[in-house]
Amino acid sequence: MNQAELVGLTQNQLDSYWMPYTGNRQFKADPRIITAAKGSYLTDAEGRQILDSLSGLWTCGAGHSRPEIAEVVYKQLNTLDYAPGFQFGHPLAFQLAERLVDLAPVGLDRVCLTNSGSEAADTATKIARAYWRQCGQASKTKILARQKGYHGASWGGISFGGIPANRKMWGQGIETDLLNHTWRAESAFSKGMPEHGVELADELEMLIGLHDASNVAAVIVEPFSGSAGVIVPPKGYLQRLREICTKHNILLIFDEVITGLGRSGATWGADAFGVTPDMLTFAKQVTNGAVPLGGVLLRRDIYDAFMAKGGADHAVELPHGFTYSGHPVACAAAMATLDILESEKLIERVAQKAPEFESKIHSLKGTEHIVDIRNFGFAAGITLAPKDGDPTLRPFEVALECWRRGVYVRWGGDTLQFGLPFQMEYDEMDRIVATVAESIHGLEP
Ligand SMILES: Cc1ncc(COP(=O)(O)O)c(C=O)c1O
Repeated sequence: MNQAELVGLTQNQLDSYWMPYTGNRQFKADPRIITAAKGSYLTDAEGRQILDSLSGLWTCGAGHSRPEIAEVVYKQLNTLDYAPGFQFGHPLAFQLAERLVDLAPVGLDRVCLTNSGSEAADTATKIARAYWRQCGQASKTKILARQKGYHGASWGGISFGGIPANRKMWGQGIETDLLNHTWRAESAFSKGMPEHGVELADELEMLIGLHDASNVAAVIVEPFSGSAGVIVPPKGYLQRLREICTKHNILLIFDEVITGLGRSGATWGADAFGVTPDMLTFAKQVTNGAVPLGGVLLRRDIYDAFMAKGGADHAVELPHGFTYSGHPVACAAAMATLDILESEKLIERVAQKAPEFESKIHSLKGTEHIVDIRNFGFAAGITLAPKDGDPTLRPFEVALECWRRGVYVRWGGDTLQFGLPFQMEYDEMDRIVATVAESIHGLEP
């Protein structure tokens, strides 16, 4: 019996669901069904305990199925299941906003709430365009981003996202241009930030020269590229982007959907890399993955520009938002998550244990087919050599073999990706590393 049959799913049920970012044909021929999760472990349909090396999808850093979150969610559902977010408010949204602002890099003291990272990227870039319009510079509309960047699956994300496979299907998106990515062969196997390559940031000057600053609203980048396989910027690179944006009066947006709230060993990637953007997006870890929630932290003067130009007092200053923006249940889950991160000092723990993770993951250097290893905080990416001319085949095969051996590893493009739960123990890290090596060897040639 396959795993779907084991939990009583019919073929029709399997076929009915068009799964997201999934090889549906392969999956439905050999389903991988997760039935429960606790701490750093998933339970599959066979009752196996699978070690989770990606915290769900970079979401559950505080560990799966936290009772503290479940309790507040249950209570919230029984108190206020939903409140209209347009023209009315409920206490938790404001309390969460203040709390996020307190955690934010200095100066980012206004927050919009969304339901996902994609919506957060859309929201930040829409605000950027509208902001310049409010400032009397309506021609500043172009969004500059970076190759290998991932900013979600909506029209914004596929327009300024830089992963080719995610762009090719859709035709014309919104107006963007992309910097080169920061991966360089000579920096392979760098531990943390590569020493060389700061000059890659100067391409931003060229792009701005090409389009003219009067036409550019914002630059959006992930502090390190997560979905492309943890591509860490060279030393000084983000500082240089910051200087160039400031010089040309262009907003800098950090997409911190992966890097935010602990993954990089600091509250934000902005803190870890010592660079403050004008806006910052978050999602995933903010509720520990339990309930969808995302958002944008931004400079107060950007908010103020809309208030100043808002027209009559009753007029809507920003015609943007979602039915579920600031959903009470999501806000409750976020408050409980922030409590856990603080009381268990999980972000400090990531910072403390990251050097050991770094040396463990880099111990795979020299393993057949591994052509690069990168890491930052509790994130790492491994690039594998192409197989039969297909760069995506080997990561798929290796990750599936890891799953068979009891470790969940994400694959994407030519990479394997790791985003450890923050409470992960050293022996569990060893198990992940050993399983990757065994899986590669087990599959040779
Ligand atoms: C950096 C980044 N931005 C945006 C997104 C999109 O988030 P969501 O899938 O919640 O829409 C992701 C998702 O992985 C991400 O990694």
